[in-house]
Amino acid sequence: MQDDPRAEETHTLPPSPQVVALQDYTPADLRDIAGDDRDPFEVSALGLTWRPKEQHFGIRANNRLVAHAGWVAVPVSVAGTTLQVAGLGGVIVAPELQGRGLARLVVSAAMAQASAQGLEFGLLFCRPDRMPVYRTMGWTSLSTDITVEQPGGDLAMPLPAMWTSLGTAVPWPPGAVRLLSPPM
Ligand SMILES: CC(C)(COP(=O)(O)OP(=O)(O)OC[C@H]1O[C@@H](n2cnc3c(N)ncnc32)[C@H](O)[C@@H]1OP(=O)(O)O)[C@@H](O)C(=O)NCCC(=O)NCCS
Repeated sequence: MQDDPRAEETHTLPPSPQVVALQDYTPADLRDIAGDDRDPFEVSALGLTWRPKEQHFGIRANNRLVAHAGWVAVPVSVAGTTLQVAGLGGVIVAPELQGRGLARLVVSAAMAQASAQGLEFGLLFCRPDRMPVYRTMGWTSLSTDITVEQPGGDLAMPLPAMWTSLGTAVPWPPGAVRLLSPPM
C-alpha cells in the first residue's frame, strides 16, 4: 500500500507553531482541519442552532490550517443583570496533531483578544468528555443550568457550560443564567 504524502506532511509542525488571526473561517477551512469527519464536535445529534463566531484564530502548517478557535461577544443575563461575555467555540485541532498543545495556543490567543477588548469572562459549551481539556487551561464548570435562544424559543442547554475569568480573577456571579443568544 502506498503512503498518502499529505498524511505524512501534516504530521510536521514547526518547533514553535504560530497562531494567526484569520480574516474568516469557512466550511472549507473546517474540512482542512477535520478532513472527512462530518461531525467532528459530536454534537449534531442535539439538533441545535449555533451562533457563528466573529473572531477567528488558527495555526497553519504546510500551507494547511491545522487548528482553530473562534469567539463572539454574547450577552448573558445572570440573576437579571446583563453582561457581555466572550463566547468561545469551534475549537478544533487536526486529528493527527492533537495532544501537542495546539488547542491551548489558539484558545489562549482568542481569550487574550477578548480580554484586551475589556470582556471579563469567557464562556463555552462542550460535551462532558471534552471538559478536562478546558480544566487544564483554567476553565471552571458552571454549576447553574443555562437557558439559550433557539429558533423555536428558549431552551435549557443540553450541554454543560464552563467559564474562565479574563484578566483579574473575578468569580462568575451567582444566580440564574440565560444566554440572550443561540449558543456558540
Ligand atoms: C479537544 C481538542 C480541541 C483538544 O486539542 P489538542 O490540541 O489535543 O489539545 P492540547 O494538546 O492543546 O491540550 C490542552 C490540554 O488539554 C489536555 N487534554 C487534551 N486532550 C485531553 C483529553 N482527551 N482528556 C483530558 N485532557 C486532555 C492536554 O493534556 C493539555 O493539558 P496540559 O497542557 O496541561 O498537558 C481536540 O481533541 C479536538 O479537536 N477534538 C475534536 C473537536 C472537539 O471536540 N473540540 C472541542 C469542542 S468543545
